[in-house]
Amino acid sequence: MSGQYKQHYNAFKQNPAEFWLAQSKCIPWYKTPQNAYTQDSDDLYHWFDDGQLNTSYLALDQHVEAGFGEQTALIYDSPVTNTKQTYNYSQLQQEVAKFAGVMQSLGVQKGDRVVIYMPMIPQAVIGMLACARLGAVHSVVFGGFAAHELAVRIDDAKPKLVLSASCGVEVSNIIEYKPLLDDAIKRATHKVDHCVIYQREQATATLNSGQDIDWAKAMQTAQAVDPVPVSGSDPLYILYTSGTTGLPKGVVRENGGHAVALNYSMKNVYGMEPGEVFWAASDIGWVVGHSYIVYAPLMYRCATVLYEGKPVRTPDASAFWRVVEEHKVTALFSAPTAFRAIKKEDPEAEGFKKYDTSSLKRLFLAGERLDAATYGWLKEKTGLPVLDHWWQTETGWAIACNPIGIEHLETKAGSSTVPTPGFDVRILNMEGEECAPNESGAVVIKLPLPPGCLSTIWQNTERYKQGYLSEYEGYYLSGDGGYIDEDGYLFIMGRTDDVINVAGHRLSTGEMEEIVAAHPAVAECAVFGVNDALKGQNPMAMIVLKDGFTGSHQEVQQQLVQSVRNQIGAIACLKNIMCVERLPKTRSGKILRKNLRQLIDGEELQIPSTIDDPSIFAELSEQLAEK
Ligand code: COA
Ligand code: AMP
Repeated sequence: MSGQYKQHYNAFKQNPAEFWLAQSKCIPWYKTPQNAYTQDSDDLYHWFDDGQLNTSYLALDQHVEAGFGEQTALIYDSPVTNTKQTYNYSQLQQEVAKFAGVMQSLGVQKGDRVVIYMPMIPQAVIGMLACARLGAVHSVVFGGFAAHELAVRIDDAKPKLVLSASCGVEVSNIIEYKPLLDDAIKRATHKVDHCVIYQREQATATLNSGQDIDWAKAMQTAQAVDPVPVSGSDPLYILYTSGTTGLPKGVVRENGGHAVALNYSMKNVYGMEPGEVFWAASDIGWVVGHSYIVYAPLMYRCATVLYEGKPVRTPDASAFWRVVEEHKVTALFSAPTAFRAIKKEDPEAEGFKKYDTSSLKRLFLAGERLDAATYGWLKEKTGLPVLDHWWQTETGWAIACNPIGIEHLETKAGSSTVPTPGFDVRILNMEGEECAPNESGAVVIKLPLPPGCLSTIWQNTERYKQGYLSEYEGYYLSGDGGYIDEDGYLFIMGRTDDVINVAGHRLSTGEMEEIVAAHPAVAECAVFGVNDALKGQNPMAMIVLKDGFTGSHQEVQQQLVQSVRNQIGAIACLKNIMCVERLPKTRSGKILRKNLRQLIDGEELQIPSTIDDPSIFAELSEQLAEK
């Protein structure tokens, strides 16, 4: 390290409030904040609450006013529909202002919630920015979630409006959204006022009169509206993420901290310059999509790529490199899974050679652990810096990174490098003491969290406190385990709870277990994540059938696969289900899921002394060998 990172990090450590107030000056406010952070009556932190701003103004109007209206803002590239469309800042501003007018005419005001259940099309981005313009709070639900998941989110967020489209387009099929939306609305107890539906030519939806409004028609008569000033601590969005139960947690992101942190990250974490092209190959339904497809690139006056396709099969494994060449992408951010899929189909990276990728300066990876093989392959085949960084839906931006805009640090395989300035990361043992270098423990962040991180769980401060703040007083519990080495490099080793990452999608095994346990033939069960060469992890279930059950095991397994698909969605992919005689437990009856995972992954079993009957593992091994 040359010392620049250390200097920068120390400036934050010495005085976080001063450090972030200085950063807050890099964005335009209607009213400049004087307070860095304040604590409310629940002791929760809020950033810049005395400032006034508007996130849609930051993402659009400020650039148009500064004379950059002609500059490209959004590049929509959709190999699944064979469409490409570009919006400059002026065009995007006009669309957003008009759509905000549509929502306003339907009664949406500052503070109202709007659920967005849409595929990767420009209208989804327009909907998000239009909410921000009105000071309304959006909650985007990933298009791959089934009706039940959508209904749960509608009931929690209680939106006035739902924005949706007639369909999503997957590699080999068209997913009609409207029947899923109608089903969700029927299941939900909260009643929404209206749904605004964008009709796509791949499948037209039947609109229910009274409830549904045609997006394009509404736009024809819409009046553009100006940005509404909001307080720094007013919520911008709620994004639901998997917890350890079937009830997802609504992460609340506030306008002020979000804008300051993301603006800071574009330079310091990603090394970007305004005018360059940033591509986060994710989905707007996930946090990466919120932060780095929509808000950060636009606030920083970059062009952002909205890609409706996959790394492979749309049409082949060179798709990413084609997009890089065509749109002159400067930095590409994706999940390791995506590159494992590319590597599998194009091991020699012929696609990379086929296209002119000279615009590409660096690759960013996140969402799951970056395995050494994928890291090595990417480095060798592209010759580019391959930068792993660690973050969560809750934080909204990188907790640890290689801070390339400050100093390009040496990488260490398996490490997401060093804490990002703003995050005071510590490793604590069970007693709450700090671990020595290289000693594993719980990865925690000293409070206050920096700007941009969650302020609470929507309508559930108790859950926020219980789940994140109560384990170690004064610290945020990340839910990940790991260690810091003697050079200060952070190694994230995986979740310590019932959360798994399947193809970069965060899912709850606890929720899947609830669904499996509800089957009438199942006496008890355990669902846990096991290693998967492509997707990083996949869920697996072990089930014990009820005594006297004489039906077909195969039929039960098929029904369980279908139930998980119907309730959570196809992305859950619980396909591996094994019937066993009994499950390993402690004497107090706790199922030893971690040992089951170790057994399937072929790792050494770390059996606790409290196990009821250790011979069960020999029994299970035998059964596995027979399989
Ligand atoms: N809407 C509806 N359905 C969706 C969906 C969406 N937005 N996204 C995925 N699905 C469905 C798929 O159609 C598939 O359904 P099927 O079982 O009926 O075929 C299922 O969910 C699983 O899809 P997926 O996880 O994409 O697996 P895959 O085998 O089709 O593709 C990869 C494998 C690796 C190519 C793919 O998972 C991928 O692109 N991963 C990267 C994800 C990523 O970038 N995550 C980053 C988040 S930061
Ligand atoms: P999500 O909230 O979907 O972004 O998932 C967050 C979780 O993904 C983290 O708690 C980690 O378990 C995992 N994760 C994200 N990025 C990384 C990374 N770079 N290395 C290891 N794990 C990661």
